[in-house]
Amino acid sequence: MPEPEQINFTRGVPANESFPIDEVIEAATAALRDHGAAVLQYGPAQGFGPLREWLAQWQGVQPEQLLVANGSLQLIEFLCLAMVRPGTVVFTESPTYDRAITMLRRHGAEVVGIPLEADGPDLAALEGALARRRPAFMYVIPDFQNPAGATCSAAKRRRLVELATKHDFLVLEDAPYRLLRYRGTDEPTLVGLAPDRVLHMSSFTKLLGPGVRTGFMVGPAATIAKLAKIAEDTYISPGYVGEAITWEWCRRGRLDPQIARLKALYGPRLAACLEALDRHMPDARATRPDGGFFVSLTLPPGVTTTAVRAAAAERKLNLADGLAFFPEGGGERFLRLPFCALSPAQIDEGIRRLADSVRAVR
Ligand SMILES: Cc1ncc(COP(=O)(O)O)c(C=O)c1O
Repeated sequence: MPEPEQINFTRGVPANESFPIDEVIEAATAALRDHGAAVLQYGPAQGFGPLREWLAQWQGVQPEQLLVANGSLQLIEFLCLAMVRPGTVVFTESPTYDRAITMLRRHGAEVVGIPLEADGPDLAALEGALARRRPAFMYVIPDFQNPAGATCSAAKRRRLVELATKHDFLVLEDAPYRLLRYRGTDEPTLVGLAPDRVLHMSSFTKLLGPGVRTGFMVGPAATIAKLAKIAEDTYISPGYVGEAITWEWCRRGRLDPQIARLKALYGPRLAACLEALDRHMPDARATRPDGGFFVSLTLPPGVTTTAVRAAAAERKLNLADGLAFFPEGGGERFLRLPFCALSPAQIDEGIRRLADSVRAVR
C-alpha cells in the first residue's frame, strides 16, 4: 500500500493552478516594453499612475481617493502609523484575521474583539462595547470572513455604519474575498453605504496572485493623502513592476474572465467541503459560506482544537490552531478550514480524517 499523502488545511493561500502565468508574462512584457522607464523609475507614492486611474474608474471614485500599496496588509500598517498610539482602542470582529491583530498590537493598540455571528458582528455586543469605549476604528471583513467564512447581512451593515456615525469612529472594510462569490447575491459594501466613514481595502492577491503585492484602499481624499505621505516616507514609491503588470493585465480585460475561472475552480471545492462535512461530520457546527476561501468549525464541547490537531497529525492531516484569531481569548474549539488550495478529493479525505480525529479525542 502506498503511504497516504499529507493533507494541509492550514494556510489560506490561492491554488497554484489558479495563476494565469501566460497572461502575466504577456502583461509583464508589454508593461516593460511600452513603459519601461516609468515602471523602473521612482514615482508617486500613491501607486503606479495608470493602475491608480484604472482602479479609480473600476471603483467609481476619483484617483485622489485611491492608494495602491505593496499588498493590503501594508495599508493596515500605514493606517496604524497614522492612527494608533499605545492605548488607542481598536475594535475587531472576534475571530478576525490574525495578522491584523499582530499589527495593531505592535503599535500598542488595545484590541477589543466583538463576537462574530454567522451574519456578521453581534451588534448588541458592539453597542455594549461602544457604551464603554470609543474606538479609533473598527476593522471588519464583511465578505466571506477570514477566518470564519461568515458574511455580514445587509441589515447589520447598515446598522454598523449608523453606529460608526453616531459614535464617530472609522470603519476599515477589508474585502479581499468579496469578488469570489460562488453562489447567491452580493450584499452592499460598507463604503457604498457610508463613503465618509469607511476605508475600503481590497487586493489582487486572491484575484491574480500574492506575488504582484498589489493592494488598494478607497477612502476620503484627505485620509488617503495622509496615508500616501506615510507611504512615501516608508518606501518612496511602491513596487511599480508588480503594479504595472497588474495594470497591463487589467487593461487587457483579463480580470473578469479570471474571476470566472476562479469561481469555476473554487466553487466545486467549497461544495466538496460542505458535502464532506455533511457526510463525515453531520453534527458539526460549521459555517456555510457562499464564497471565499474558508469554512470554519466549532468543535463539540470538551473537544479542543489542540487535541484534535495532535490526533490529526497521526493521520497525516495538518490543522492550525485557532487561538491567534481571537484578540481576547477563546477559540479553543475553533477550526479554520481553507479549502481553495486542495482538490475536491483531498478535501473529502481531509474531512474524513478530521472526523476520525474528533472521534478519537472525544
Ligand atoms: C482578510 C485579509 N486581509 C488581508 C490579507 C493580506 O492580503 P495582501 O496579500 O493583499 O497583503 C489577507 C490574506 O490572507 C486576508 O485574508
